[in-house]
Amino acid sequence: MKTKSEFLSGEMVDLLNYRVEQEEYSSRLYLSMSTWLDDEGFAGAAKLFKQYSNEELVHATKAKKMLLANGIRPITPALKQPKQDYLSLPDVIIAALAHEKEITRQCYDLTKVAHKEGNFMVVELGLWYCKEQAEELNKVQYLIGRLEAFGEELSMLRELDEEMGELAD
Ligand SMILES: [Fe+2]
Ligand SMILES: [Fe+2]
Repeated sequence: MKTKSEFLSGEMVDLLNYRVEQEEYSSRLYLSMSTWLDDEGFAGAAKLFKQYSNEELVHATKAKKMLLANGIRPITPALKQPKQDYLSLPDVIIAALAHEKEITRQCYDLTKVAHKEGNFMVVELGLWYCKEQAEELNKVQYLIGRLEAFGEELSMLRELDEEMGELAD
C-alpha cells in the first residue's frame, strides 16, 4: 500500500486517516447515544442523534476522498466501543458538546499542519471541517441553552425531546 504521494506528506496522510477514524467514531458515539435515548423513551432526541450519526459518516467520506484523489487507499479503522450508558437527556447533550469541542481541536490541528506545509488542498479541506464544526457547536450550544432556560424537570425534557424530533429532517 502506498503511503506517500506527490501532494501528501506522510504526516498529511496520517492526519487524514485520523480524520476518517475520528469522524467514524463520532458516528458510532452518536449511534450509541441515539440507541440509549430510544431505549429511555426520548424518541425525538433519538431521531436527531441518529441523524447526527449519519452526518458524521459524510464527514469521514470527505477525508477518504482526499486520500483516494491522491492515490492513497484510506485505512478502514477499527473503532473503540463508545460509551453505552448515560444518566439522562442532559447528560447526553453535555457529552455531545464535549465531544464536538475535542473534534474542533483536531480539525484546527489538521488545518494548522496543512498550512505550515503549504498544502493548499488540505488547507481548504481543513477549513471545510472547521466551518462544519462551527455549525456542530452551534447546534449543541442551542440545546444547552434550552436546558439552561427551562431546566431539567421531566415535563421540560419531554418538550425538549419533542423539539429535538422536529429539528431532525
Ligand atoms: Fe464531524
Ligand atoms: Fe460532529
